[in-house]
Amino acid sequence: MSELITDKMIEDELMPYAGPIFSNQRFLSQKQYIQHGTFSVYSHELHVAHFAIKIDRVLRLHCDRKALIRGALLHDYFLYDWHVGGKGDIHPKLHGFYHPGIALSNADRDFALNDREKDAIRKHMWPLTVIPPSCREAWAVTIADKWATVWEKTVASQNATHSEKSI
Ligand SMILES: [Fe+2]
Ligand SMILES: [Fe+2]
Repeated sequence: MSELITDKMIEDELMPYAGPIFSNQRFLSQKQYIQHGTFSVYSHELHVAHFAIKIDRVLRLHCDRKALIRGALLHDYFLYDWHVGGKGDIHPKLHGFYHPGIALSNADRDFALNDREKDAIRKHMWPLTVIPPSCREAWAVTIADKWATVWEKTVASQNATHSEKSI
């Protein structure tokens, strides 16, 4: 598997703003749930935080860095395997539409969110979820989510191709 996030990046860029999130057992439990290809929901959320920081830097959005990182890390905090459903999956066939609301409810219960963090989680599936983001942090997370998804699916499919060739 290709690695996008290093321990140093976690320590330098994410931990200063998200220490309590990284020490939360429910957050860490997302390592067991696959998001795309071989990447877990946990890895995906770190990837989104990484791309959101890049977007903020390159476009000079001057985001609230703490809200940006917390919103990115918690945007898919729905806490079940969406491929098979399970406890908390209230609409198994409509995961794409409903998981932002589920993630928001879980995240606000565990981490007391501000309005920018809530908006980033609630709107990150835009345009699927119709109402567009209403702050720059939410826009950055929404774009970063698409970027991370494409990156993960591309890397995952390349890895699958390589492993098939090596058999
Ligand atoms: Fe999502
Ligand atoms: Fe996502």
